[in-house]
Amino acid sequence: MASATEAINKLLFIFLFLQQYSLLIMADDSVSVPVPADWPQQFHSVLFINRSGDLQKTDLWYDWPNGRNFNIIQHQLGVLKYDLEWDNGTSFYYTLEPFDKTCKIVHFEVGILRPNWLHGANYLGQEHVDNFLCNVWEKVDFISYYEDVLTRRPVKRIFSSSGMVAHVMTFEVGAVLEDKHWQAPVYCFGDAETQNKTSTSLLHSQDAFPGGSSHGILMR
Ligand SMILES: *[C@@H]1O[C@H](CO)[C@@H](O)[C@H](O)[C@H]1NC(C)=O
Ligand SMILES: *[C@@H]1O[C@H](CO)[C@@H](O)[C@H](O)[C@H]1NC(C)=O
Ligand SMILES: *[C@@H]1O[C@H](CO)[C@@H](O)[C@H](O)[C@H]1NC(C)=O
Repeated sequence: MASATEAINKLLFIFLFLQQYSLLIMADDSVSVPVPADWPQQFHSVLFINRSGDLQKTDLWYDWPNGRNFNIIQHQLGVLKYDLEWDNGTSFYYTLEPFDKTCKIVHFEVGILRPNWLHGANYLGQEHVDNFLCNVWEKVDFISYYEDVLTRRPVKRIFSSSGMVAHVMTFEVGAVLEDKHWQAPVYCFGDAETQNKTSTSLLHSQDAFPGGSSHGILMR
């Protein structure tokens, strides 16, 4: 008799244990959807970008505390372009000598991306990309974002509208470009072409510089 009770107790214990366990697993499942890491406050990143076969190397200097973002865009065997964006909504697109001295100013309704601009992105799962196992998200049909599972560094992004693919070659957290480089040339301050853009434009430099690589989009 005693052993029967014991057996029942054991079964009951196992049953309760399994129930607890499956509840734990369920609870775990509901919190385990990965979210993208916030962007560091300041970083330098070299990007290799392919826009429908048009190749470019971009130096991205993201500087949130100073409210500024810089894309220095080297087109393959071509022009070096500067896309200097301020958080007050003003962006300068210019070229320097030995190229033509051009400058275009665009006023946007919103400034640069916030470090948490990827919040609310839709998780799509994992994928092997550029030799890294990545978590993948999509944000409002605009961008696919790939982040290394191990280090949580960005690996790749694809801009849906332009088909532009950016591969992250370096990611130097804390690197800051000296102040003296954040200066648009004098010919930006004369009668440079100026435009106002409302919140319909998705990519800052996509408008001003076809082939630009700005992340100054309207999701902030
Ligand atoms: C760039 O992308 C195009 C497709 O848009 C592809 O055919 C080409 O191979 C790519 N070039 C490089 C160097 O990845
Ligand atoms: C935004 O800041 C930049 C850099 O300080 C400045 O050149 C530009 O005029 C400012 N734009 C506005 C609209 O205040
Ligand atoms: C842009 O907007 C400013 C102020 O909102 C206005 O003074 C300026 O004339 C506008 N420029 C153009 C080109 O529309």
